[in-house]
Amino acid sequence: MIELATFLVDDHDVPALRNVILHLASIGYCERKICERLGLSDLTEIIWRALPIYREEQLATRDALNSAIDFFFLQGIISINELNQVFDNNERDILIKVGLILVHNKKCYARASLYPVGNCLVFSDHAWPQLPHPGFLNVPYDQVMYVGIDSRWLARTTVRNTSSSTLDLCTGSGVHALLASSHSKKVVAVDINPRAARCTYFNAKALGLTNIEVVVGDLFEPVYDEKFDLITANPPFVPSPVDTLGYRDGGNSGEDILQRIVVGLPNHLAPGGSAQIITELGERMNEQMSSRLRVWLGGAKMDILILRLSVHSAASYSIGHANGDEDYDTFLNSVHDWSSNLRKQGYTQVVSVLITFKWSDITLGEPWTRVEELQPPHNNAGKEVEALFIQERLSRKLNLYEILKQSKMRRTGPIGLTEARLLGSKLRANSQANLLGSELPIFKWLNHVEEEILVLMEKPLTLTEIIVITQELNFQEEDVILAIRSLIRNGFIIMT
Ligand SMILES: C[S@@+](CC[C@H](N)C(=O)[O-])C[C@H]1O[C@@H](n2cnc3c(N)ncnc32)[C@H](O)[C@@H]1O
Repeated sequence: MIELATFLVDDHDVPALRNVILHLASIGYCERKICERLGLSDLTEIIWRALPIYREEQLATRDALNSAIDFFFLQGIISINELNQVFDNNERDILIKVGLILVHNKKCYARASLYPVGNCLVFSDHAWPQLPHPGFLNVPYDQVMYVGIDSRWLARTTVRNTSSSTLDLCTGSGVHALLASSHSKKVVAVDINPRAARCTYFNAKALGLTNIEVVVGDLFEPVYDEKFDLITANPPFVPSPVDTLGYRDGGNSGEDILQRIVVGLPNHLAPGGSAQIITELGERMNEQMSSRLRVWLGGAKMDILILRLSVHSAASYSIGHANGDEDYDTFLNSVHDWSSNLRKQGYTQVVSVLITFKWSDITLGEPWTRVEELQPPHNNAGKEVEALFIQERLSRKLNLYEILKQSKMRRTGPIGLTEARLLGSKLRANSQANLLGSELPIFKWLNHVEEEILVLMEKPLTLTEIIVITQELNFQEEDVILAIRSLIRNGFIIMT
């Protein structure tokens, strides 16, 4: 078994460590290039069961980048010659000195993995600790979370406005704190696991970021009553029958940490700011998941946007989390434990969601909750999350009619219309619209009026022009306004 990195670094070694990061970036160690080399359309598609295929087919020709990918991303054990292809002697020596690599019997082992996320390179523990390298039978409780699918979804959907302060709760490797450092004057990163806090601190140093304060603590406790413009969190959210992995297990309901975060938001979110949480929520029959969030907010007037990114049946969730792959009895018993825990919670399925909270605009009435089912983004989509709030709020304005009269409207961009019709029936065809090129495309069935308005907007039109044209189609003015409201809400038209 290979000892894990300690994530400790002496200050005088930091410049050399930073040079190693710059060197890896210069040979193309980034999300796009790694995807290209591994034949993936997105890093979230990577699966450990395919490691030999990536290694033998995709990375067979060994240049510096392929060796680096095998070593720091796929937990490969590489030869000293391959390591020398990637690093010069100084770089190799500093990596050994800070405990990131081990060379033994001419074989080289990484003691941590290096994950590209957006424009950052982030060290953390290995994604697959039970593989022969590093070879853990039981994963240590204080294992630092690798950069997983959920980490990437949150990174891609974070609203990145320039802000004065960001709080990253449950920071782990620090991935969200590191990314926020470029658009936030100050970032506070909190984790209860000292090893995770060390990893975040190590990453901040390696990237040369000086505006991140890393604190070991329990959620909001280290920041007292301080308020933040941006709060991000990826808590341990798994509804689990066991408590064996600190970054994963969220109690039997999965909500032990999540609930405490939501309860604390009203006291810590600054006006105009966003709080964003990536999590999984168990769904019960006849219960809207948003009702739990409202209870936890305790009446605080916040709008909630829930993006449903992926749905898992209780059965597939239990099978996916059960352990004991090598022994059927152990495995089946574990499936039983996981599925009976979900049953006890009343969960029929578990849904991966990105939840964004913002203080409501009280002139628009009661706080709203909006739920959308979407494909997870492959690129940055924070601006689209922000736009969904703007569109929802505009569509709710009581004086929308007056606002519309003062400007022209146009299609937001190219829109795809997919027509469905029942052959043999006299029923009119229905169309589904989506904004092409969007990272978070909303697919919405249009009614007849909405479709006509969208089709006729070949050029920007005033409200009066739309009403005059649609009168010829016998549309009522109030139906036209209603349709425009809905098209704005779904981001298909905007005012110019
Ligand atoms: C799912 S990991 C997220 C890591 C990282 N933010 C990411 O997105 O990859 C959850 C993290 O929450 C931390 N954690 C668990 N309970 C906590 C608490 N009460 N206060 C602060 N952090 C906590 C764990 O140690 C772990 O690092």
